Amino acid sequence: MTETKKTADQLRSARWFAPDDLRSFGHRSRMMQMGLGPEDWEGRPVIGILNTWSEMNPCHLHFRDRAEDVKKGIAQAGGLGLEIPTISIDESFTKPTSMLYRNMIAMETEETIRSHPLDGVVLMGGCDKSTPGLTMGAISAGVPFIFLPAGPMLRGNYAGRALGSGSDAWKFWDERRAGTISAEEWVGVEGGIARSYGHCMTMGTASTMTAIAEAMGLTLPGATSIPAADAGHKRMSASCGRRIVDMVWEDLTPDKIITPAAVQNAATVAMATGCSTNAVVHLLAMARRAGVALELNDLDALGRTTPLIANIRPLGSSEYLMEDFYFAGGLRALMDQLGDKLDRSAITCTGKPLEEGIAGAPVYNDDVIRPLSNPVYKEGSLAVLKGNLCPNGAVIKPAACDPRFHRHEGPALVFDSYPEMKAAIDDENLDVTPDHVLVLRNAGPQGGPGMPEWGMLPMPKALLKQGHRDMLRISDARMSGTSYGACILHVAPESFVGGPLALLKTGDIVRMDLEARTLDMLVDEDELAARRAAWQAPEPRFERGWGYMFQRHVGQADQGCDFDYLTAAFGQAAGEPDI
Ligand code: FES
Ligand code: MG
Repeated sequence: MTETKKTADQLRSARWFAPDDLRSFGHRSRMMQMGLGPEDWEGRPVIGILNTWSEMNPCHLHFRDRAEDVKKGIAQAGGLGLEIPTISIDESFTKPTSMLYRNMIAMETEETIRSHPLDGVVLMGGCDKSTPGLTMGAISAGVPFIFLPAGPMLRGNYAGRALGSGSDAWKFWDERRAGTISAEEWVGVEGGIARSYGHCMTMGTASTMTAIAEAMGLTLPGATSIPAADAGHKRMSASCGRRIVDMVWEDLTPDKIITPAAVQNAATVAMATGCSTNAVVHLLAMARRAGVALELNDLDALGRTTPLIANIRPLGSSEYLMEDFYFAGGLRALMDQLGDKLDRSAITCTGKPLEEGIAGAPVYNDDVIRPLSNPVYKEGSLAVLKGNLCPNGAVIKPAACDPRFHRHEGPALVFDSYPEMKAAIDDENLDVTPDHVLVLRNAGPQGGPGMPEWGMLPMPKALLKQGHRDMLRISDARMSGTSYGACILHVAPESFVGGPLALLKTGDIVRMDLEARTLDMLVDEDELAARRAAWQAPEPRFERGWGYMFQRHVGQADQGCDFDYLTAAFGQAAGEPDI
């Protein structure tokens, strides 16, 4: 334990348990109903273990067990750990898209913490939306917290070759559609691509977001690289339990960790790992919860100057996956390689500067974790485009697309809905050339709804048969972090709310210039004005429930898609409940 700033009577939980009054009688007697006694809570930090375990979430299947390790660590440090199940939104099964529910995770987390006698929390997450959702909520709640990452699953295997989550599914599906692999091989891939619990083991959204959490100082040093099935993951879980108790005594609240320097570090690490484009939306939202200013332009600037040094799929070598990254030294080693590109004085959840956790972390394989002098790409993890198609921005992963698309002009082929596009692209007589620009609209935060990961628009069968595997594609959707290709995403404002993408017509010429960071439709102003006047807003997607609230309050992609009333700028938190 370092410096103690809190005394036992200052514990937040003491407000529930200490007073000699009727309400506290109720709280204490209900603790006793659970078999606990005053010796369990008096003078001890009460730690909520917010567990996203679920049998509908294969990425978090080990969390039921890990919660016990956390609890053990909490007890060792003199705290009381209580496991609290929270909503588990997984990436594979949740429809129409898990993104519809990220803010629900955040709201549940914030309100659960605020309304209960908790002095600190351990957040158990990892599958894509759980990391930003849990941390956004905990940032707003303001009590000390530590993030326990689920860890990546073991590498996939089929017929002796390594398989990567997502990436290989897309790749083999294209081959299946092109008729180059058999149904039997396809089934073999299906059984071999996800071999254990844990999150996706490419540098997809899960690995990117947990890396961001670690770089922001929200995890123990090195925690995010440990494979879920490794015994080290259990030990790390217990360490999280021990550490959160001390964080409570030190009063190490999130505002002391999530500073502008921490956010900058997180964004830099994201670029150096070849981040999922989803990181853009989540980072903006997390920063806004913490009241730290972050704009798309800041991320573009970092994308231009940060070399990509993690040689992992999907942007890096097809040979390497997260397990290789762990054995090569993991995120601590990667961060150390970044030298003064990081603000090493930023305080982490350890209570110490980032420097202490990363200095001298060895690299065991410098082909996987590259030195700055030998990057996978000098730049290009991410670029932000602007123009008359996306006045508030759109993003692309330059390193993930064929360089011939870095500057491109071609006719648009526009679809208004996913089913319409799906029907067309399988038509072998579709009138499409490799120069065409495939466009899907009404797939943004409100249009999707929930901004689904449709942005890696499927290649038209006609082009696949000719041997083409990439073309320029534009949408207001997101794409999976494991996707690749010349895909322009997150067009803002989205077409559903009348963004200019809504005005584009099939046959219009679209021009993209990566170097100039522009994306435009070459349609003259008068014509655009006429189309704008004729445009009619579509019917809202929801008439009730969560979706009804979502569509009224969700922000656009360039703002992080948080609800307007949940950002730090909107207003003060409700404060402590009246007990
Ligand atoms: Fe959970 Fe990919 S499905 S991380
Ligand atoms: Mg994903």
